[in-house]
Amino acid sequence: MAINYQTENRIFTLNTKHTTYQMQVDHYGFLLHLYYGAKISGNMDYLLTYYDRGFSGNPADVGNDRTYSMDALPQEYPVMGTGDYRSSALIIHNADGSDCCDLRYIGYQIRKGKYELKGLPAVYATEQEAETLEIVLEDAVSRIRVQLLYGVLEEDDIITRSAVITNCGDQTVVVQKAASACLDFITGDFDLLSFYGRHAMERNLQRAEIAHGKFVIESRRGTSSHQYNPAVIVAKKDTTEDAGSCYGMVFVYSGNFQCEAEKDQYGQTRVMMGLQDELFHYPLNQGEELIIPETILSCSKEGFGQLSVQFHRCIRDHICRGKYNKEIRPVLINSWEAAYFNFNGEMICKLAEEAAKLGMDLVVMDDGWFGKREDDNSGLGDWQVNEKKLGCTLGELIQKINAFGLKFGIWIEPEMVSEDSDFYREHPDWILQIPGRKPVYSRNQLVLDFSRVEVRKAVFSQICHVLDQGNVEYIKWDMNRSLAEAYSMEHNQGKVMYQYVLGVYDFLEKLMERYPEILIEGCSGGGGRFDAGMMYYTPQIWCSDNTDAIDRIKIQYGTSFFYPASVVGSHVSAIPNHQTGRSVSLHTRGVVAMAGTFGYELDPGKLTQEEKAEIKEQIAEYQKYAKLIQSGDYYRLSNPFLEEYAAWMFVSLDQKQVLLYVVMLEIHGNMTVNYVRLKGIIRDGVYQDVQSGRKYSGAALMEVGIPMPVEMGEYLSYRIELRLEEK
Ligand code: GLA
Repeated sequence: MAINYQTENRIFTLNTKHTTYQMQVDHYGFLLHLYYGAKISGNMDYLLTYYDRGFSGNPADVGNDRTYSMDALPQEYPVMGTGDYRSSALIIHNADGSDCCDLRYIGYQIRKGKYELKGLPAVYATEQEAETLEIVLEDAVSRIRVQLLYGVLEEDDIITRSAVITNCGDQTVVVQKAASACLDFITGDFDLLSFYGRHAMERNLQRAEIAHGKFVIESRRGTSSHQYNPAVIVAKKDTTEDAGSCYGMVFVYSGNFQCEAEKDQYGQTRVMMGLQDELFHYPLNQGEELIIPETILSCSKEGFGQLSVQFHRCIRDHICRGKYNKEIRPVLINSWEAAYFNFNGEMICKLAEEAAKLGMDLVVMDDGWFGKREDDNSGLGDWQVNEKKLGCTLGELIQKINAFGLKFGIWIEPEMVSEDSDFYREHPDWILQIPGRKPVYSRNQLVLDFSRVEVRKAVFSQICHVLDQGNVEYIKWDMNRSLAEAYSMEHNQGKVMYQYVLGVYDFLEKLMERYPEILIEGCSGGGGRFDAGMMYYTPQIWCSDNTDAIDRIKIQYGTSFFYPASVVGSHVSAIPNHQTGRSVSLHTRGVVAMAGTFGYELDPGKLTQEEKAEIKEQIAEYQKYAKLIQSGDYYRLSNPFLEEYAAWMFVSLDQKQVLLYVVMLEIHGNMTVNYVRLKGIIRDGVYQDVQSGRKYSGAALMEVGIPMPVEMGEYLSYRIELRLEEK
């Protein structure tokens, strides 16, 4: 049993293979957090200490006991209203105007399998793989009930948390703030690793001390955002890539989020993950409930490398779904950087014909195929095929492409509308907009109110009409601006950001139901919605609009802390690169793009014969290793922000096959030799370099590594395949 409850002292213990999580319902019915970390046996309630602390108040029912204060005790789900002055996981605004809630224990339930969340993405697992613990807390005055949900995936070292807030009282209340996970650490000094960025330069790693005061990362943009990814690592001060304790928190949600980290007056650390609270005021009428999106937790005492492997496996096997989740993804060519808006049907066919000769699997017709869409100022919302531009119907175009032996994919941006579109002219009141005020424009487009069913329905039927015209096997779902002035005619303003995201999920779920065979790739100006929520619907996401191989190394490095290579959309593009002007060899561009779902973003018609020959080899190489790349374990072998080289590796789950990639980031006169050390292999095994025949002991590869050649040239790259010798 992964979940255990001791009746005599009301202690709940969640055990995974290598970790333990423990909490206790105390004498007063408060749910206190006791421990999360490396696996231990026994009870950790001895960690709780009680001292009379000035200015830390005491709940009324503890009587004269001035040593009992919620301001000092570690909690599972701290609320505003019990005398805890730290940040709250939940703030309830009551009908009488008070902001108060006092949650006490009511009961619990343990069941097989993993809980689901209605309308929201969540980790899924079989009854054999997971158990669920539900703890019910309630406020006796307002009758606000909170179900705390814990999913335990024992073998994977994963614990998930969510909360369902229900109004069992008879007065309407407003949820002002709600988190799904709180981690209170009684002792220890920690750093927070977070991932900041901007369009075309996402997920840069920042490591900062969790000091006294509060550090917050968040999104108010309606999407998870390029600016901060909704995932963090809490690490002990001395934790490195290979050693030390660390805790990951990944929010399974694609909208506004907030992660707060604070060290309190007694040196205790609190880290919370939940919904962003500034644009959130969620009214709950009698009997209504609000589901807080899930947070995935994992803990490793072997550093970030191991933590990442745990998250990769969880997201790959328990978040991503659909036919393509386990299948080798098609090598695709996308028309965007090849032609932008300047294409016609003939050009798409030409792209397909060339791509077929090179061995690719799928051609994607990106933005520009619909309505009046010759640039990005018009046409969104009019999802009718521009047959004049294509010179034929969509069905005919797809047939021609299929005749080359290629699959066909199409770009859509369902959540958006251009002011210059028939759809907007017909339904000007379907956008998110505050009545009486002008909206904020971005990329000259407006956001449709996806919280409203009729809006979603109208877009859905247009999109289905397009998809039904032929054999569409791939969709790129884009989203190219942040939400602003999010006001809905239907929903209260404090509700709309949340309901919008649920609307997007509902649309995607319906799309998956109707077209189970179609592979959907997510995108939001590249990686602006690169989160575990979207991965539930789109098993691959365009990682960044930046296709420069050297920048991509850094972007993919940050991305790899939580997200597996199988979700990372990554393409070889033309040089000089369109985002940076940098020129990098085709070989190195291929090496970098192969650390994800592989493809091309260029016009093959402009390639030389040599380049074409090299691309053929690249594709054959990718196809040879695709299974290992998509389903093996991935390890970072260097920090490209600090080291002269970037290196990463894939190792098969049986540890028999290793694929090592190295890109030299710097070159100097009289260069010193770089040794790349491997990870995750069998120490006492012998591995043979498939190309050179040279043999190495596993221990040598892990302790000292392989010397990289010193060669003249910029951004040279290497691939080494190793195989375990059979005993
Ligand atoms: C976004 C995407 C690009 C491309 C354009 C089309 O920026 O990230 O890949 O699809 O939109 O407008």
